[in-house]
Amino acid sequence: MKVLMLNGSPHQAGCTNRALEEVAKTLAENGVESEVFWVGARPVGGCTACHACDKLGRCAFGEKDGVNEFLAKAADADGFVFGAPVHYGRAGASLLGFMDRVFYANGRAGQPNVFAYKPAAAVTSARRAGTTSALADIEKYFTISQMPIVSSRYWNMVHGQSAEQVERDEEGLWTMRQLGRNMAWLLRCVEAGRAAGVGLPEAEPGAWTNFVR
Ligand SMILES: Cc1cc2nc3c(=O)[nH]c(=O)nc-3n(C[C@H](O)[C@H](O)[C@H](O)COP(=O)(O)O)c2cc1C
Repeated sequence: MKVLMLNGSPHQAGCTNRALEEVAKTLAENGVESEVFWVGARPVGGCTACHACDKLGRCAFGEKDGVNEFLAKAADADGFVFGAPVHYGRAGASLLGFMDRVFYANGRAGQPNVFAYKPAAAVTSARRAGTTSALADIEKYFTISQMPIVSSRYWNMVHGQSAEQVERDEEGLWTMRQLGRNMAWLLRCVEAGRAAGVGLPEAEPGAWTNFVR
């Protein structure tokens, strides 16, 4: 079992990464492998709505900034943790741009849907405020992608402006450890269900109605 995590911060070893490290450590203690994928320090653009992914099955711009590499890795992952710093009271734009393009390109042009039915969690870090809004930003992707959301015993957030400050956020790191245990438990439940013959739910052909009169 493997969990793919996304560090959506420009800081490779910053606060968000420190939170993800704590989840990773706990997953390992519970027999689950993990990998942290970093969005990088350059600005990540959002979706240009070019619809090239309809034909390509991947993002037309995604070779340059890791979007397509992440999509390929996601195919082999059993669960996900998406982490972002708070920027201006919501999830940082690089993470949102990256996720817009990853989720929009997912499952197109005959490619498999790499997210549906896989558990996912959102994590955020802030110096002071905007964290619950950032969590909601990230969780929106899960709720329209048939992804069960993994929660912890309190808010999935750490506070600080550096990894050293996060180290002192005992409650934040405690929350991350519980998140790791909960993710490992749910992954084992999914695996046990599959082994017992529980199939995926029936997928009814979709309706596509725009609010245009
Ligand atoms: C552009 C920008 C905007 C920010 N806005 C906020 C904010 O609205 N609220 C807050 O508490 N911290 C804000 N911060 C601080 C970061 O969220 C905080 O230091 C975070 O823990 C950094 O995580 P990282 O090391 O993973 O990047 C902002 C930082 C930047 C660079």
